[in-house]
Amino acid sequence: YKKITTKSLVEMKANGEKISMLTAYDFTMAKIVDTAGVDVILVGDSASNVMAGHETTLPITLDQMIYHASSVIRAVDRALVVVDLPFGSYQSDPKEALRSSIRIMKESGGHAVKLEGGREIKESIKKILNAGIPVMGHLGLTPQSIYKFGTYSVRAKEDAEAEKLVEDAILLEKLGCFAIVLEKIPAHLAEKVARSISIPVIGIGAGGGVDGQVLVIHDMLGMNNEFSPRFLRRYLNLYEQMTGAISKYVSDVKGKDFPNDKEQY
Ligand code: KIV
Ligand code: NA
Repeated sequence: YKKITTKSLVEMKANGEKISMLTAYDFTMAKIVDTAGVDVILVGDSASNVMAGHETTLPITLDQMIYHASSVIRAVDRALVVVDLPFGSYQSDPKEALRSSIRIMKESGGHAVKLEGGREIKESIKKILNAGIPVMGHLGLTPQSIYKFGTYSVRAKEDAEAEKLVEDAILLEKLGCFAIVLEKIPAHLAEKVARSISIPVIGIGAGGGVDGQVLVIHDMLGMNNEFSPRFLRRYLNLYEQMTGAISKYVSDVKGKDFPNDKEQY
């Protein structure tokens, strides 16, 4: 695929090709992620945590999401760029959800929006899709509802919640969503959902039986040592490498080793 579209992703599922997705929130990182061949870049509201240092995803604003997304869009040639609708920008009513989505599409140039929830936001999803804006769903652990859940632990372990989740996934497909993220649910349930619908299911902490995987880029690069859920595979320890490099710089400056004769005019 020269350029990834929502159609390419549905084709990938049909052909059994797994979909790779990572977050990015800024130009430099998005350029690296896109060049490396990631299919989907998510401008996640996890920016609230990893970029701004908030405890939850709730504080990030629509303006801030648009700033992150426009920076990412300027870097990307190939990947599909999906932008999270932040908490408070779509829950009040379908018109607000559409207005927020239009702002994201116009002001950032993003290719699609993602919203957390199922039947509760059915009318909003319809309205956004009617305007020609592609929608990605997000079920399971939906961090914007953290104060309802109380913890970030695995969702849908009980039958009632699992049943509701399967029904919601089927509803999202029926409404016209092009893909769904499933976060932190039992692998067997995620696999069941992936088999029940023909749009791609992209998992995070949802096992290998789904159609693709997503991780937060800062987590998979090992930029923070504190967050270690079971589902996270660290591909680098950038935290150590970066603090090593930076403390070397500090000692070079202090020791008058930097700059040397060749590093000046
Ligand atoms: O905001 C985010 O990073 C996400 C992914 C974890 C799916 O929604
Ligand atoms: Na998110």
